[in-house]
Amino acid sequence: MRVYDIILKKRNGGELSREEIGYLIAGYTEGTIPDCQLSAFAMAVYFRGMSHRETLDLTLAMAGSGEMVSLSGISGPIVDKHSTGGVGDTTTLVLVPLVASAGVPVAKMSGRGLGHTGGTLDKLAAIPGFRSDLSIEEMIGTVEQAGAAVVGQTETLVPADKKLYALRDRTATVDSLPLIAASIMSKKLAAGADALLLDVKTGDGAFMKEPAGAFALAETMVRIGTGAGRETAAVITSMEQPLGRAVGSALEVEEAVLTLQGRGPADLTALSLFMGGWMLFLAQKAASPQEGREQLAKKLAGGAALEKFREMIRLQHGDAAIVDDLSLLPRAAATVPVQARRSGYIHRLGAELVGRAALALGGGRRSGGGSIDAAVGVTLVKKRGDFVESGETLAQLHLNCAPGAAPAAAAEKLLREAYALGPAPTPEPALIWGYVDRAGRHSIQCGGGEY
Ligand code: URA
Ligand code: CA
Repeated sequence: MRVYDIILKKRNGGELSREEIGYLIAGYTEGTIPDCQLSAFAMAVYFRGMSHRETLDLTLAMAGSGEMVSLSGISGPIVDKHSTGGVGDTTTLVLVPLVASAGVPVAKMSGRGLGHTGGTLDKLAAIPGFRSDLSIEEMIGTVEQAGAAVVGQTETLVPADKKLYALRDRTATVDSLPLIAASIMSKKLAAGADALLLDVKTGDGAFMKEPAGAFALAETMVRIGTGAGRETAAVITSMEQPLGRAVGSALEVEEAVLTLQGRGPADLTALSLFMGGWMLFLAQKAASPQEGREQLAKKLAGGAALEKFREMIRLQHGDAAIVDDLSLLPRAAATVPVQARRSGYIHRLGAELVGRAALALGGGRRSGGGSIDAAVGVTLVKKRGDFVESGETLAQLHLNCAPGAAPAAAAEKLLREAYALGPAPTPEPALIWGYVDRAGRHSIQCGGGEY
């Protein structure tokens, strides 16, 4: 087999065999095939695409490039979830203990967020003492005891993706549907769960700006998961405005605790119950996603989900007292309001700009690295559809710099751009666009309280 011929075949629109794809990925992982050839291959895929069969073979080849975690020692179907990422997406922190409280073991392996806003691991790092760097054995032990664990992806998982993603990032080939789907799904397959729920975000703050693109990505990933023998479904949800009110590590942990206490924002609560219902269904713990959601609403109301969060934090060496005393979380030195300069209805609250405001305050990671200040961030007091009087507070900035300093000014400017006001109320935006299961795609388009 010659790498040149494989590249040529894809460049000319041909369909690659499993052997050809396997040869390419194995050689690239070992270092016998150079970056220049994989760059050309990635660009050929970008323009020519891949069939479902090719995409599945690529995913399996990538998943098999490193360690494949086995969770078979834990009894019962183990479920994982993945979000394509958004701003202030606190869902994982709520979902993991919530689903575990219904008796479904959750083993969540999180990557270190690729985007600039912090990932789930960064948020959990706000809990004093919390460790996400557990070994696979420790993770299994935690899941066996508490029914839930959230850990960082180990170094040995999917080395092919580590190399290929870095290459795509430098060669304008990140936004290729088969390459994105294979990248995400290879990591999920290697992480070992039996069932997987994908949350594919769409809107301003998401990778996929339009629902059609999000549905297409969801369909491809569900076909991969199903093809690899895992129960897989996807929900397509809105990232038009940030989820909940908190954006920032400690602020989002606080928001998760409030949600688990039944006092959280309506959108975050609704989405957590909706997704959790699907996870119970995929793990065969509920006859339908709706029935799963009803089970979880009871767990939330009865305090079982909060108790589960406490247990998970304790077993991962964190200070579980934060659940009862939120003042134990890191706090910013100052809180400064951003006030409306005129009255009106909020008809847009751009998620991406809010994310950049939190980043300006130190609550995110600039490209390549750097540390995240767990205490800083933004609280959105007003959201889409709300009316605001001139002089009323739109949002609060949580700062660890002087209130007049450059980061504060930059964050305020970005937030003012994020909010757009109009004279008339706008309808509540859809929170959920639909779902994809093994039978195909389904549109349901509804707001927080409707389904
Ligand atoms: N997330 C991933 O893990 N990989 C991609 O290629 C895009 C998003
Ligand atoms: Ca949030």
